[in-house]
Amino acid sequence: MVELACQHCGYKWGYQGQNKYYATCPQCRYKVKIPEGIASILGRRKLDLELKKRASIERKAVKLRGVAALVNKAVEEYEHDKSMLIQILLRLQRSFGWLPRDMLSEVSKQLNVPISQVYQIATFYKAFSLAPWGKHLIRVCMGTSCKVQGAEQILDRVQKCLNIDKDEITSDGRFSLETAKCLGCCAPAPVMTVDGEYYVNLKPTEVEGILSKYE
Ligand code: FES
Repeated sequence: MVELACQHCGYKWGYQGQNKYYATCPQCRYKVKIPEGIASILGRRKLDLELKKRASIERKAVKLRGVAALVNKAVEEYEHDKSMLIQILLRLQRSFGWLPRDMLSEVSKQLNVPISQVYQIATFYKAFSLAPWGKHLIRVCMGTSCKVQGAEQILDRVQKCLNIDKDEITSDGRFSLETAKCLGCCAPAPVMTVDGEYYVNLKPTEVEGILSKYE
């Protein structure tokens, strides 16, 4: 800030602008010519500011690449608001498909929340996956109605056909297997979905044929 005096009304004020030739008097709106000595100070300040700005942009470009840049985009979208942690994780899950360990650490760092809190949320909700999903997602309902109608045998058959356990992915990346508490279609139990397509009144013997339809 430099002190200027209006050449018209004599008003004095602390000028914070960057124009080194003219300033507008806050009192009478007169276009005040900035004295030469002050103009050179302002010129130096402007240059310093620009250099600082450029250095910070360059630092940012070097620092934020890959996962860090992805996280930064999501965190900035929610204005670094810690209370939006779930939304930030959902945004990353949608854009990346799953939440790798280094991504969770980056969220913790950039949002300044403990890593334990980030993990607590990422492992609590089914919407988040800490491992990459296969090309096709199978969900077997293990809700009460489905269990009564033989959901365990369905799950067992899927696991044997694909040689994986629940929450795992096949070695060729074709299928991921999850269980659900209810798929919202209890009457024709047992129920299974593949990529959101429903298979109802399912029998264990039908499982293999259904899975073979998915490349
Ligand atoms: S209990 Fe299986 S769909 Fe509801």
